[in-house]
Amino acid sequence: MLISTLLVSVLAHAYAIIPANAFAAARDKVPAPAVFAFGDSTVDTGNNNFIQTVARGNYPPYGRDYAGGVATGRFSNGRLSADFVSDALGLSPSLPAYLDPAHTIHHLASGVSFASAGAGLDNITSQIMSAMTLSQQIDHFREYTEKLKRAKGEAAARHIISHALYVFSIGSSDFLQNYLVFPVRGYRFSLPEYQAYLVAAAEAAVRAVHKLGGRAVKLVGLPPLGCLPLERAVNLRRPGDCNEMHNMVAMSFNGRLVRLVAKLNWELAGARLVYVDQYTLLSAIIAKPWEYGFENSVRGCCGTGYVETGVLCSLDSALTCGNADNYVFFDAVHPSERTYKIIAGAIVNATTSHLFH
Ligand SMILES: *[C@@H]1O[C@H](CO)[C@@H](O)[C@H](O)[C@H]1NC(C)=O
Ligand SMILES: *[C@@H]1O[C@H](CO)[C@@H](O)[C@H](O)[C@H]1NC(C)=O
Repeated sequence: MLISTLLVSVLAHAYAIIPANAFAAARDKVPAPAVFAFGDSTVDTGNNNFIQTVARGNYPPYGRDYAGGVATGRFSNGRLSADFVSDALGLSPSLPAYLDPAHTIHHLASGVSFASAGAGLDNITSQIMSAMTLSQQIDHFREYTEKLKRAKGEAAARHIISHALYVFSIGSSDFLQNYLVFPVRGYRFSLPEYQAYLVAAAEAAVRAVHKLGGRAVKLVGLPPLGCLPLERAVNLRRPGDCNEMHNMVAMSFNGRLVRLVAKLNWELAGARLVYVDQYTLLSAIIAKPWEYGFENSVRGCCGTGYVETGVLCSLDSALTCGNADNYVFFDAVHPSERTYKIIAGAIVNATTSHLFH
């Protein structure tokens, strides 16, 4: 009972997990002039601070290793992969949040995050957390393109939009908040049907961005969902172990994303989509954390490390670990800053292996 109450509350603050990101502009002939991120908490750099939602990370211990120790809304101890991608491309060291009124359109011209912690590909997933749906995020991007044209002129805005890197990191919440843990959708869809539904939503989003002028899109696959500390904690059959069934769900979903990438590269003129395999990378890190300089890959840094995320992380600071760099996860679902930096490397490195144009 306690566990289920706790879990509800944990998930009320959880959201989306891992990864996502954009394109290896470093290897493109023309360096990317901007990075745009869409998705969930893995790339929300603070948008949820400005909407009514419980999915917020703007209090300690979040942000404790961020510049100035500020809790910006990022669900980690420091920066996210979207920030590191922007940094690696020589743009801003941290990606601004679209809804933050502190930024003018001129600040946002080299990149912005439209993401919202708790968002899923499925609108219902986003609604569970009162997060912004992916459609709303794309509406904001459309609005942004208009503002950019007014601020920079049509030609300059077009250049930015067509050469930018677009990072999508979304989908974990659909399984964690919605299908696998709380089977909101489980009554209506079989697993293959739900996966097909989600992939169709991803396709619609990429097509919308392409229609607005985006070309280089990095679709970050799901992480090994079953190895998130929270999933280990609630694994009733083998407590403490990864939930292999949930890992297989993530893997089969990722297989569908790979096929989507091939299909859209074929169908959309000039599109350069890349699938980013964070599953294999994170699985390797989780299996042998010491090879990557980590000490712990089974617990998060905050609290007991097994179940806390969101406000639960702020309750007992005495338990929070000393050095988050030793931990793969900062809370029971979100990576630490160091892990995000490694994921960003994978995003930046990933290039199209099959060019159709
Ligand atoms: C989500 O809602 C928007 C706006 O109502 C709609 O256009 C879109 O098709 C919906 N997405 C899915 C996956 O149902
Ligand atoms: C990305 O490439 C750099 C340079 O080759 C390498 O050091 C780094 O390990 C790569 N990152 C990943 C995650 O593959």
